[in-house]
Amino acid sequence: MITMSEKDDLLRVLTGAGIGSRRKIAAKIMEGRVTVNGKIAENLRQPVDSRKDRITIDGVEINLVKEKHVYLVLNKPPDVLSTVSDDRGRKTAVDFIPEKYRHLRLYPAGRLDKDTTGLLLLTNDGELTNRLTHPRYRHDKEYLVTLDREMTQDEKYRLEKGIVLEDGITAPAKVSKGKDNQDYTYSVVIHEGRKRQVRRMFESLGCRVFGLRRIRIGGLTLGDLKEGEIKETPAAEIRKIFDIK
Ligand code: URA
Repeated sequence: MITMSEKDDLLRVLTGAGIGSRRKIAAKIMEGRVTVNGKIAENLRQPVDSRKDRITIDGVEINLVKEKHVYLVLNKPPDVLSTVSDDRGRKTAVDFIPEKYRHLRLYPAGRLDKDTTGLLLLTNDGELTNRLTHPRYRHDKEYLVTLDREMTQDEKYRLEKGIVLEDGITAPAKVSKGKDNQDYTYSVVIHEGRKRQVRRMFESLGCRVFGLRRIRIGGLTLGDLKEGEIKETPAAEIRKIFDIK
């Protein structure tokens, strides 16, 4: 454990405390749910001293002692939510975290649909979560999608040009035949992360999606991890993969 000792701004201090993504923390500050020494925080960049100031979110005091960052790669099975908890008691990604990491506040960096399988990163590193989920960073995400039929050249071309969905045109995707050369399985690489994007792209072509598995985010791959398996990736490797100084 290292204690943060410098004066910093509110958003950076809270993001560094590993309690959630930068975007979510910023929203909470803007919604007036964050206090500094008993006063509602006024802006994201408000100066704070993490050694002295008392910060709460929704009335709960935040421990500003910085946790060691941990990165777990899960091969998410189907029927598992990529959330921290579920009020209906359904299984979530956090249920796969081994006992020895349970004292850390690890949460999924990004989302996969309930039925989508594959690579889900669980971490307490708010900065990395922000990099992986913010469109500005444009990290490639590679999916293997299994369809009910062969795609035509024209359909492939349409995906590569951009497809008009109800929330706007998609950025060009890279499409190729899936590695295992299985019938009707394609590799699709996108860098956006809209809700159910890959499914909606294929559905708009009139294809049925039988299976969707994420196998890569930037240089981080699922490797030979089986469904339901989870393993730690060392921080140094993560820094190298995502080019973090
Ligand atoms: N696209 C989808 O449609 N679903 C996912 O889970 C991820 C990307």
